[in-house]
Amino acid sequence: MSGASVVVRGIGQLVTCAGPDGAVPVADRAVPAQERLGIRHDAALVVEDGRVAWLGDDASAPAADRSVDLGGRAVVPGFVDSHSHLVFAGDRSAEFSARMAGTPYDGGGIGVTMAATRAASDDELRALLAGRVAEARGLGTTTIEVKSGYGLTVDDEARALRLAREVTGETTFLGAHVVPPEAREDRAAYLDLVTGPMLEACAPHARWVDVFCEPNSPHAFTEVEARRVLEAGRGAGLGMRVHGNQLGPGPGARLAVELGAASVDHCTYLSDADVEALAGAAGTTVATLLPGVEFSTRSPYPDVRRLIGAGVDVALASDCNPGTCFTSSMPLVVALAVREMRMTPAEALVAATVGGARALRRDDVGHLGVGARADLAVLEAPSHEHLAYRPGMPLARALDL
Ligand code: NIG
Ligand code: FE
Repeated sequence: MSGASVVVRGIGQLVTCAGPDGAVPVADRAVPAQERLGIRHDAALVVEDGRVAWLGDDASAPAADRSVDLGGRAVVPGFVDSHSHLVFAGDRSAEFSARMAGTPYDGGGIGVTMAATRAASDDELRALLAGRVAEARGLGTTTIEVKSGYGLTVDDEARALRLAREVTGETTFLGAHVVPPEAREDRAAYLDLVTGPMLEACAPHARWVDVFCEPNSPHAFTEVEARRVLEAGRGAGLGMRVHGNQLGPGPGARLAVELGAASVDHCTYLSDADVEALAGAAGTTVATLLPGVEFSTRSPYPDVRRLIGAGVDVALASDCNPGTCFTSSMPLVVALAVREMRMTPAEALVAATVGGARALRRDDVGHLGVGARADLAVLEAPSHEHLAYRPGMPLARALDL
């Protein structure tokens, strides 16, 4: 359909997350979230070659090759889910039940998923991944980052990233997810592998490198180890992201800021110095919060009001994975952020769209300004507030044009 234009009409509420003139720039973080939403009523939008070519009042919508009428529904920018682990096989529902009965999460279950993932064929993994991406899209996610991290051999990590590349450009090498059981006796040798041959095999299929920096888990990596992984990834041309401060206080956030990583994810346990460092790094390093994890592990939620108050860039993402949060629902994430973390609906929506885009260093997604990718999420509702107001309802879907 290259070259064909589509006019999307009958948009009761259009949330653009773009500037007042409808143009591209992602709004400034100093502007209150409600204003950053760039709301228009009774609006229309023209899409050409997959981009927003025009937006304005429905009454003055220009003609196009095709017309779609949304009958007064709300439209928001498709969610930008900047953190997921979708390439895996196997099942850990028994671990979830045990956790609900009081067994704490420490990352040890990652080894269970690793074994099942290694044993799966390419086609099995491809089908599982495609199903999960379709689920996310069916709930309004139009950009998704996907990590490796359940292979933990050179071939299995490279395979995970090759498969992930079939569904997204936002692929992340997470060979440093945990030290695999067969390498426990010699962590240094595993670090050599991750920063050497594994990185070399994975970098061509990856945009990012990530590390589970969590001294509170015996399975994850220390500050010294994490630094080595990130610097090696950077040397191979990858952008940096960090899993940090999830299970307890730790060096992840500080390290992410020091190295200029795009994002530090989880941020449940931050010191005053961490928050100050993140505030100073606004524009470079985003604090990505994953409230689905706290919900599914029954853990305390991060203090997002403290972060917003300090001027930190905040994103919301799903962290969809078989251990700590097996849901890719960004509407659920928004609802949890509002209900449990006291974000306003406007703040949560901005964090799930513009925030995610910033965490991936993208300016073409997360908003619907002229020139942006025409990634529209339609709501079975008159306003974006319904995302939090009606938790668990299937209100959002990505619009196929
Ligand atoms: O982001 N924290 C490390 N990685 C995942 C969990 C992975 C798993 O338990 O399978 C996370 O929470
Ligand atoms: Fe994660």
